[in-house]
Amino acid sequence: MDKILIEGGRSLKGQVRISGAKNAALPILVSSLLAEGSYTYSNVPDLKDVESIKQLLSNLGARAEAHGDKVHVDTGRILSYEAPYDLVRKMRASILVLGPMVARLQKARVSLPGGCAIGARPINLHLKGLAQLGANIILEHGYVQAEAKKLKGADIYFDTVTVTGTENLMMAAVLAEGTTLLRNAAREPEVVALAEVLNKMGADIQGAGTTVITINGVTSLKPVSVSIIPDRIETGTFMIAAALTHGDVTLVDCEPDHVGACIDKLRRAGVRISVHEKTIHVDGNDEIISVDVKTQPYPGFPTDMQAQFMVLMSIANGTSIISETIFENRFIHVGELKRMGADIKISGNTAMVKGVSGLSAAPVMASDLRASASLILAGLVAEGQTEVNRVYHLDRGYEAIEKKFSELGAAIKRVK
Ligand code: EPZ
Repeated sequence: MDKILIEGGRSLKGQVRISGAKNAALPILVSSLLAEGSYTYSNVPDLKDVESIKQLLSNLGARAEAHGDKVHVDTGRILSYEAPYDLVRKMRASILVLGPMVARLQKARVSLPGGCAIGARPINLHLKGLAQLGANIILEHGYVQAEAKKLKGADIYFDTVTVTGTENLMMAAVLAEGTTLLRNAAREPEVVALAEVLNKMGADIQGAGTTVITINGVTSLKPVSVSIIPDRIETGTFMIAAALTHGDVTLVDCEPDHVGACIDKLRRAGVRISVHEKTIHVDGNDEIISVDVKTQPYPGFPTDMQAQFMVLMSIANGTSIISETIFENRFIHVGELKRMGADIKISGNTAMVKGVSGLSAAPVMASDLRASASLILAGLVAEGQTEVNRVYHLDRGYEAIEKKFSELGAAIKRVK
C-alpha cells in the first residue's frame, strides 16, 4: 500500500498542466461500443479508472491500448455483453456500458454497482429510463439484465439530476427509433463533451448543456478520433492548493469556463484569480476570508470540490457553512481534518468550519477520491510531516499528483 509524505509550509510557485477529465474520458471511451471500428482518443489521463474501463472494454471483446496520452480502441469484435462484478465493484462508472450495449447488441448483463463511501448511489433512474425506451429489465443475483430488440424513443423525466444517468440514456437513445427527450438532464461539461463526440459519430443530439436534451435516433454511427476536455476538478484542486499555500501558480491547458463557480467562491474568499483563454493565474498572497458554500449540480459549486474547499475554509478568517446537497455521506474527510487541528462541527448535511491559525501534521487515512485530495492539500499547509495512507483512492482520479505538486515546490513524496 503506497503512502504519500508531505512536509508542510512551502508556498507553491510555477506552472502546472491540467490533464484530461476523468469523468469525460470514461463515458467517451464507452461510447466506442456504439459503432464497430477503430477510435483514437487524445488527452486521456493516465488513471486507475481509465485502466479499469479499458479492461472492461477488452473483457467485452474490444481492443483498447494506450500509447502516451492517446488510447486506441477497436470495437470490431464485441463478443460478450457482460460486465462482471469484480470489474464493476472497482468502478461504478462501469454501469455506463449498459445503455450502449443494449443499443448496439440488444442485450446487456451488468453487475449492479454496490454503494460506495460517499453514499448508496442507486441506479434506479438509469433503469427507469431504459425501461421507458422499451428494454426488458431483470434484476437477479446482483446483476441487471437488459434486453430490447429495438429501443424506441421516449419522453423521460429524471426525478434527480444524474450525470451518468443522463449519459447512459443519451447513449441508449442515439440508435433508438424516433425521438427521445431527457428532461431535468445533467448540464455538466462532461455531458456536453459526450454529446459532441456522439454527434461527430453521426448522432443527432440537441440541447446538451441545458435541462432538456433531444435525441433523434439514427440507424448507424461511425468511429471517430477526438480529444478529451481538461479536468475541471483537478483545475479546482490546484487553484485551492495555490490559495492555501499563499502561492503564485499558473494553470495551463485548462478550461476556465468550466470552473466558474469555484473561481467566484475563491475570489470572494480573497484569492486573486486572473483568467486568459486556457490559462488561470492564482495569486494567493492575501488573507483568506470565510465564505459559505452549497454544492449543486452544474453550473453550481461542484460536490467533487467540497472537501478541497473545506480545507481552505479550515484556515480562513471567520466561520464558513458548507452544505452538501448531492451525496448523503460526503463528510468522511472531516474526521481526519479535525485530527489535524481543524475546527469543524457537522449537523446533518451541513458543516460549520471555524477558521484556525494553522493545521498540524498527522498520519491520516484516505477514504474516497476527493477526500484523499483534501488530505494532501491539508498536508501542504500543516506544520510537520503528514502521512496520507491508502493513496490508491487518489490514483483513481489524479494523474501523477505528487509529481505535479513537487514541480510546484511542495516537499512531497510517495513511499511504497
Ligand atoms: C458523477 O457520478 C461523477 N462520476 C461523480 O464524480 C460526481 O460526484 C457526481 O456525478 C455528481 O456530480 C462520474 O461522472 C463518473 P449522480 P454519478 O448520478 O453520475 C442520485 C468523482 O469523484 N441518483 O449525478 O454516479 C445519487 O444518489 C466522482 O469523480 C439516484 O438517486 O452521480 C446522488 O445523490 C464521485 N438515482 C445524485 O443522484 C440514480 O439512478 C447525483 O448522482 C442516479 C443517481
